[in-house]
Amino acid sequence: MRNFSFYNPTKIHFGEGQIAKLSREIPAGSRVLVTHGGGSIFQNGVWAQVEAALAGYSISRFGGIEANPQFDTLVRAVEQGKAEQCDFILAVGGGSVIDGSKFIAAALCYAGEPLDLLTGTRVQAALPLGCVLTLAATGSESNPHGVVTHVARQEKLGFSSALLYPRFAILDPRTTFSLPTRQIGNGVVDAFVHTIEQYLTFPVDAPLQDRYAESLLQTLIEEGPKALAAPEDYNVRANLMWCATQALNGLLGCGVPQDWATHMIGHELTALYHLDHAQTLAVVLPALLAERRDSKRAKLLQYAARVWQIEQGDEEQRIDAAIAATRTFFQRMGVPTSLSEHGLGAEVIPHVLAQLERHKMVTLGEQRDIDLAVSERILLRAL
Ligand code: NZQ
Ligand code: ZN
Repeated sequence: MRNFSFYNPTKIHFGEGQIAKLSREIPAGSRVLVTHGGGSIFQNGVWAQVEAALAGYSISRFGGIEANPQFDTLVRAVEQGKAEQCDFILAVGGGSVIDGSKFIAAALCYAGEPLDLLTGTRVQAALPLGCVLTLAATGSESNPHGVVTHVARQEKLGFSSALLYPRFAILDPRTTFSLPTRQIGNGVVDAFVHTIEQYLTFPVDAPLQDRYAESLLQTLIEEGPKALAAPEDYNVRANLMWCATQALNGLLGCGVPQDWATHMIGHELTALYHLDHAQTLAVVLPALLAERRDSKRAKLLQYAARVWQIEQGDEEQRIDAAIAATRTFFQRMGVPTSLSEHGLGAEVIPHVLAQLERHKMVTLGEQRDIDLAVSERILLRAL
């Protein structure tokens, strides 16, 4: 196992009715900037619960944060937060609202151009942030990362700082009952791929992390289709929500190699062609596994045996079967696994490669050897 440092300060309140705990977590007298997305929270009763729990606080509400949160929108939230002298941020929504709110929290404490925070300037201070999660997928509710879209530049810009861990996250599985089918599938695929990217690399004698990853993957495989079949099954939603948080709260990746190439290639597909985040992952991951079958051989065989119970056939057949099972699972979750299903053909590949080059994504993967030529082969397999 490799050396690591682990830190995760986010307090989780999990379960039905936990939104009422907001008043315990936000200091009395705070001026709270409440951020949300396009309006789902008004239709599913989440806002009513938040409003009731925040009685007595001074509140400024900022709505309209898009899926793949946009820089220009977030800058408007920063201006509002400044004008209203807010000193606490409460994000109510999915990964986009939480990511966007991390940026707002940092920008409200930054005197320079907000864009600096997305182009390499280190976050030195941030307002305290809490969140009420309504979509289980990204893990943003208890990690220090965020991704913001700059539309004019056609870029998804990542940032990260230990100052941006939410102070607390409220996870009430009931809030996810109202998710559209597409977002149920997206959430399961995103959590699945986060787990794979910290697992399916090469062995480093870390059996605990391996089995932790395998248990997350198996739980997602079992519970994901149930959420499509019975959207209001509380226990299914609870299991998925807890899986998604753990898939990217930092613990799984301790001491093991990681391969975030699927995410990096996927971000370019979203920035250029507006595919949902998880839609990009479902297209890229099976293609990447096929292309990297030699360097990932040992783990692919382990994945085949332990996650999919594939024991028959020679090594090549078992790897093929594991990749096919992965693809079938994504399809079962309603998420297409080829670019052509999104109306994209080979003509997009040079544009994606140019973006990867522009963003210096030319040594991806756990071995740092996914260069542009390998990315091209992955994209060709994804057609
Ligand atoms: O805006 P509203 O009206 O709320 O609708 C949202 C949005 O349209 C809707 N939704 C959310 N909760 C709902 C609901 N609809 C009905 N009922 C509910 N309970 O779902 C739509 C998608 O929401 P979004 O927040 O965009 O989805 P997700 O949580 O998948 O977040 C995706 C974003 O997270 C980033 C992605 O790049 C993307 O920008 N990521 C963040 C990561 C992180 N911080 O660690 C890691 C991930 O890999 C990912 O890159
Ligand atoms: Zn993701």
